[in-house]
Amino acid sequence: MADKKKMSVAEILAAARAADGKGEQAPAASPSAADSEVAPPPTPKPAAKAAAPAAAGGRPSVADILAAARANKGAAAAEVEPKSAAPKPAAAVKPAAAPAKVAAKPGPSEAGRKGVERDTASILAAARAAAKPGPVSKAEAPSRPVAKPKPAAEKVVAARPVPPRPARPAQPAKAKADDEDRRGFLQIATGSFLAMGFTALSITGGLFSLGLARFFFPNVLAEPPSRFKVGFREGFPSGKVETKFVAQYGVWVVNGDFQGEQQIYALKTVCTHLGCTPSWLEAEQKFKCPCHGSGFYKDGVNFEGPAPRPLERYAIRIADDGQLEVDKSRTFQEELGQWADPASYVTV
Ligand code: FES
Repeated sequence: MADKKKMSVAEILAAARAADGKGEQAPAASPSAADSEVAPPPTPKPAAKAAAPAAAGGRPSVADILAAARANKGAAAAEVEPKSAAPKPAAAVKPAAAPAKVAAKPGPSEAGRKGVERDTASILAAARAAAKPGPVSKAEAPSRPVAKPKPAAEKVVAARPVPPRPARPAQPAKAKADDEDRRGFLQIATGSFLAMGFTALSITGGLFSLGLARFFFPNVLAEPPSRFKVGFREGFPSGKVETKFVAQYGVWVVNGDFQGEQQIYALKTVCTHLGCTPSWLEAEQKFKCPCHGSGFYKDGVNFEGPAPRPLERYAIRIADDGQLEVDKSRTFQEELGQWADPASYVTV
């Protein structure tokens, strides 16, 4: 391989022309060209077809162009990349295709063709030299700048300067006084409500206590004494009905005649029909009940109306002091013959 790489351009051209002359046999006749990695077996077909018109018309053949390009590539690679002396097969094939198209155009002479070759080689060399190799590994790749984490929105907000709070305007004196009055009114109103509540509670408690105490003291009917004095007998003239004791004691004191005997007796002011209080009618000389119209004589005997029986008498006597004393604890009924009892009357 070292011998193949050291072949000059002239030798390569000669080998190519020899191959053109032999057609398809050219790669086999030149073992160096056949073994070379630069000219693989599939590619010689188009090269041979292009080389035939070049030999006839003076145009450079495809093989020439390829050979020249490979030679220049080798030289350029030696200049640019001395370490990688061995050309890669793929890189050798690709650049050869473009010049083939260019070389297919008619034109140049041998010198011009060499100029073109030189230009092409120089252009390729310059392009390869100027080409910036890309990163071949992750380690060789330039490190990306690490993006700084953005500060959180809260931090930004917290870092924001807080504007100073505006000063509260001074309260005018009148407004201040009104405010104090309002507060005083509220305090008084609140106190009043509390006082009213406690007062109502106290009143309720007091009334409850009174009711409880009243429960322990039952009703007592305050009645007048059953025995009372009505005065001296001279104070009751004959045929007189005294009504001044009706309201207080419920008693008529009568000085009248009963069965031919003048007596002073005390009549009970209760109608024997249903208990109403009759009235003494001086003009008619009778007791008249307002409820149902019962009528009683002066001696108490019923004579009209629904009353079934005469009025009742209370016990009466002359007390130690000479006054007439009525005892309401004892009653006497005429229908029972009790009026004949001397305790039911006082003889005048
Ligand atoms: Fe006196 Fe009926 S109550 S008549």
